[in-house]
Amino acid sequence: KRISVIGVPMDLGQMRRGVDMGPSAIRYAGVIEHLEHLGHIIEDLGDIQITPAERVHTAETNLRNLEAVADGNTKLADIVNNVISNGDFPLILGGDHSIAIGTLAGVSQHYKNLGVIWYDAHGDLNTGETSPSGNIHGMPLAVSLGIGHPTLVNIHGYAPKVKPQNIVIIGARSLDDGECRLIKEKGIRVYTMHEIDRLGMTKIMEETIQYLKEKTDGVHLSLDLDGLDPSDAPGVGTPVIGGLSYRESHLAMEMLEESEMITSAEFVEVNPILDERNKTATVAVALMCSLFGEKLL
Ligand code: ARG
Ligand code: MN
Ligand code: MN
Ligand code: MN
Repeated sequence: KRISVIGVPMDLGQMRRGVDMGPSAIRYAGVIEHLEHLGHIIEDLGDIQITPAERVHTAETNLRNLEAVADGNTKLADIVNNVISNGDFPLILGGDHSIAIGTLAGVSQHYKNLGVIWYDAHGDLNTGETSPSGNIHGMPLAVSLGIGHPTLVNIHGYAPKVKPQNIVIIGARSLDDGECRLIKEKGIRVYTMHEIDRLGMTKIMEETIQYLKEKTDGVHLSLDLDGLDPSDAPGVGTPVIGGLSYRESHLAMEMLEESEMITSAEFVEVNPILDERNKTATVAVALMCSLFGEKLL
């Protein structure tokens, strides 16, 4: 594959400092070398310019750093759009999860029925009205459904970017009331930790792949490292105990690779300041290797 790597040092979608250093931490963990070793052709496009948090002035809205987040995501959407136009696979390194707004704005232009796998402890389906925090990293999936602040929803001038029936959330264990309402109202498929414990990751991924294969022409993987258990991925801003294991996550990536359905991917919420010796970035790179075809034999 020809893979274009895009770093997004975004930390404005939440309040913990350090997640802007996620792309550096992931590069330091050897993402480029590892993917090249697997035989891929990697182009590292570097990092997108994000307004430094110190220079952002909070406006009159309950969405923290709205304009600066929208600005960074507009740039990201343009670059992702160009990468796909060139026939390359976009691999985005975060940065907080608000960057999925830009990624999906760029990706969705190329697919009539884009599928999205949201691998996360959270639903990220809040709006300014339902959010308990005002943090935009808790809103990107809702925004991509066309629900939320118009400045975010209308990036690249159209909405929605994805349809609710083309979304699968995997690993959920922390959902706010408004998010639960939206999931029911829209009929979004969610595999909570309950279903994963009960059925096992093999069955969950088989169902996910079959569900999306029938109706999509491309599938984006949005992997929030907090989907994993904090014991395996401690360097995240909003950890939730009882998460997916390292092994379950590798299995999921391997099954996605075998399915050949993934057309873009992002790995987000890596925060090296909260991490233990770059463990979380290292896990992210290991999962990318499985997603891009690494096999023991
Ligand atoms: N639901 C919470 C909120 O809206 C937490 C969101 C966490 N999102 C994330 N991408 N880590 O603030
Ligand atoms: Mn940096
Ligand atoms: Mn999360
Ligand atoms: Mn998330």
